[in-house]
Formats: sequence, structure tokens, C-alpha cells
Amino acid sequence: MPRIIKTTMIDSKLCSKIFHFNKIRSTNELAREYITKRQLIGFVITTISQSSGKGQKERIWESPPGGFWGSLAIKPELDSHLIGLTPLLTAVATVETLKLWNIEVMLKWPNDILMKSNKKKLGGILVEGKVLQSSLEYLILGIGININNTITQYSNPLRNKITTIYEEYKIRIDLNILLEKLIYQIEKYFGILQKDGADPIRNAWKTVDNILGMDVTVRTPEKEYYGKAIDISKDGHLIIETFNLERKVITTGTLSFKI
Ligand code: BTN
Repeated sequence: MPRIIKTTMIDSKLCSKIFHFNKIRSTNELAREYITKRQLIGFVITTISQSSGKGQKERIWESPPGGFWGSLAIKPELDSHLIGLTPLLTAVATVETLKLWNIEVMLKWPNDILMKSNKKKLGGILVEGKVLQSSLEYLILGIGININNTITQYSNPLRNKITTIYEEYKIRIDLNILLEKLIYQIEKYFGILQKDGADPIRNAWKTVDNILGMDVTVRTPEKEYYGKAIDISKDGHLIIETFNLERKVITTGTLSFKI
């Protein structure tokens, strides 16, 4: 059983407690365990490092000390048709938070945070959840950002694909302050989603530098599509126009583009 090194109470409607660990397998995995086995909800788990961090498509997410590795386990009042917007909401909240340190990023649908200047991957978001009879049981918003790390902390194959805030800006960020600001932003955007629905979140996502307007390749479980990324749908899916002018709504897939 991993040892909690610190518990902090916070003033937030979404989550009231932060559990901070030294080293665990994955904050998303432990959050799910706390929800299902201990019946907890409304908390955050952060850790100094993860030994088995989870990325999209079952990939391993390298998580050495110095990065921000955290998961919010929440149960917001949310119509089930808005749940697909939550990865975008989390991305927008993360971008707003990073702006406080003048960090400029770009968003790659659905969940990648890239450094604006060189398009290397800076962070990612993994939202998991459970819906029962169209009612939301829980959401786990997993956020990973390479912050105070040096590139040498990562494995060789990753070193020319990713970057860290320290490598780009030569600054160090206090991860406790970052978490506090992040929770504030996430709560703010959930308030907007609950009150005004999908459009303000889609619009906020679109005002950040992003892949819309770019020629992209999207690999889905069924097929590969080539075309222009043109919009984000009401439920958070990517709309592309293929080169024979067909519109496709992409619900899941891996996207790449040329720099
Ligand atoms: C991606 O593949 O882009 C998503 C990566 C998400 C990584 C974060 S780190 C904190 C949280 N815990 C995990 O195991 N994964 C997410």
C-alpha cells in the first residue's frame, strides 16, 4: 500500500481533499480504487512520480520526479450529453493555468498539450469515468505535464518527441501553486459548462492555438482518414473534411500533422 506523504483540505466545490504521494503506479488507477473500494469522491491525488503512468491507448506515460502528475476524482452535476466535453474542458483549464507563467501551448485534439514553438509534447490528459443509466457516477481527470524535469530523465525514444517547461523556459514552477490554480480553473470551467452548456467550452478550446485548419491524418480503430481538421462538434468530437470533401466526425483516434 503506497504511503500518503501529505493530506491537504481545500476550499473547492468539486474536491475537498488532496492526497499527495511519493511514488505510486498511477494517480488515475489509485483514484479509481479510492472511488470503488473506499467509496470516496471529491478528491485529488498527486504524486512525485508514477511507476506505471497511464497514457491514451494503454500507452505507458513516463512520469519522473519534477513533473505534475495528478488526478481529480469528481462527481459534478452534469447532463450525460456534456460528458464528452470534459477532456476539452480540462485542456482549456490547463492552458489557462500555464498562461499564468506565460507558457504558450497548442492543443492537439483530443488530449495533447504541445509546446507552441516547436510542437513537442508537453503534457496530456486522460479522462476516465462511469455513467450508469445516463447519470454520471464519477469522472477522473488525469493530468500529466512535464514541468521541472530535464529531458535526460526520460527514455531515449521519447527525448526528441517531448519537452518540459524547464527545458524550454529555464524556469521552475512550484507544483503546489500550479495545482491550486488548476483546481480553480477546472472548477470555473465546470461552472460554465453546467450553466451555459457546450458552446463556451468549444469556443474556449478554439481560441487556444490548435489543429483546426491544418491538414491531418487520423488513425481510428477502423480506418485512417486524411483531410483538414475543421471543427469540434457539440459533444467534443473532431470534424474533418476529407480531400474528397466528405465530412467525418471522429469520436476516437490518433491524430498527426506536418509541422
Ligand atoms: C496522453 O496519453 O496524452 C494522456 C496522458 C495522461 C497522463 C496523466 S499523468 C496523471 C494521470 N495518471 C495517469 O496514470 N495518467 C494521467
